[in-house]
Amino acid sequence: DQARQIQETLAEFRLSKSQLLEVKKRMKVEIERGLKKDSHKEATVKMLPTFVRSTPDGSENGDFLALDLGGTNFRVLLVKIRSGKRRSVEMHNKIYAIPIEVMQGTGEELFDHIVHCISDFLDYMGMKSARLPLGFTFSFPCHQTSLDAGILVTWTKGFKATDCEGEDVVELLREAIKRKEEFELDVVAIVNDTVGTMMTCAYEEPSCEVGLIAGTGSNACYMEEMRNIETVEGNEGRMCVNMEWGAFGDNGCLDDIRTKYDQAVDENSLNEGKQRYEKMCSGMYLGEIVRQILIDLTKRGFLFRGQISETLKTRGIFETKFLSQIESDRLALLQVRAILQQLGLDSTCDDSIIVKEVCGTVSRRAAQICGAGMAAVVDKIRENRGLEHLDVTVGVDGTLYKLHPHFNRIFHQTVKELAPKCDVTFLLSEDGSGKGAALITAVGCRQRELDA
Ligand code: BG6
Ligand code: GLC
Repeated sequence: DQARQIQETLAEFRLSKSQLLEVKKRMKVEIERGLKKDSHKEATVKMLPTFVRSTPDGSENGDFLALDLGGTNFRVLLVKIRSGKRRSVEMHNKIYAIPIEVMQGTGEELFDHIVHCISDFLDYMGMKSARLPLGFTFSFPCHQTSLDAGILVTWTKGFKATDCEGEDVVELLREAIKRKEEFELDVVAIVNDTVGTMMTCAYEEPSCEVGLIAGTGSNACYMEEMRNIETVEGNEGRMCVNMEWGAFGDNGCLDDIRTKYDQAVDENSLNEGKQRYEKMCSGMYLGEIVRQILIDLTKRGFLFRGQISETLKTRGIFETKFLSQIESDRLALLQVRAILQQLGLDSTCDDSIIVKEVCGTVSRRAAQICGAGMAAVVDKIRENRGLEHLDVTVGVDGTLYKLHPHFNRIFHQTVKELAPKCDVTFLLSEDGSGKGAALITAVGCRQRELDA
């Protein structure tokens, strides 16, 4: 009977094909809403124009700095791109920590910290006086009016610095550079990480026209027809759109598949009511869903001898890397118990079986709904081009995709099932999105010269 009750709890997370097709269909509706002039203001999936009008063509050239802020790591990079027959990209980078007090302090502190890291990097490379062009990968929703202007719509994930929302992030960076009075830089482009990832992959594989992040957060971008982007002047060609699909469901359209555990995760978060889809399918929240289920099962006496430990009450204990370990098929149950022990959770053998099943159920749903979103995107591209059949490549990055033992497989399988008219190849970004940001910066610099 206990087993039956546990299965009933987990059943809510097991979605049928028709439910997943419904998620795909609703994503399509939200995409249209975000693109249309008369509805984009209220749209939850914002479909933000990026002013990136093409993928790389190999003619990009020069030395660039890139910043990569908003994923697990903050990086400063020097990227040397050479065009022509023997085109090449050389990269140097350094990872810096962003302490939680800085992520959630004042905007000035955050940007001063970023500039401090750039300064350290330039010293390290011996390049303080170079005045390089810079591409800023900033993995948050920004309203762009050009390549080098982006107003932060809202913080997401673990960031909450004050006085940044509603401000142009490029200006905040420029001002911090001025305050430091140590070096000059030319900020040429602000780039979402999905866009950077798409460009990184497209440099190697021209059929790459979609970018996906399945990491701390979840989001996608793709090349949309200009005629469909009613929020930007002009009808010729294409532009990359940063979907900000993490906010899918914020109008309640996913309420029928959200569980009480999803609601608890939302209520415990920094941004209640926001990023509801992201909270069901990205690395920052999967462990929290698991934790909420475990708390409930313990309260009902099915786990940990009915004792809720302090550990279990601690936010964020189940990081993606732990979930990945627990779900690894190579791991014997004894090892699962050892991991739980490390976290301070005393488990019996039966407990560890249940915990593993909870993790598997939560991550499977994540991969499936993420796949349903992607199915909507590739089908949209196919329909845009009036094709019966579409071949397309998606550039992907993110720790959930890279580290988790099952996420990517279930995700691929779902896309295939839900978008049978598309042949989708997934290409892992090996170099992060900094390279893509540098490529975009190169195009931005060339355009400026042409305009001058
Ligand atoms: C990195 C990209 O490799 O992946 C970042 O360079 C991106 O731009 C990140 O934000 C996403 O993954 P995660 O798991 O670190 O959030
Ligand atoms: C969050 C951000 C989005 C980013 C994604 C992946 O959803 O809002 O801009 O692309 O995380 O890092």
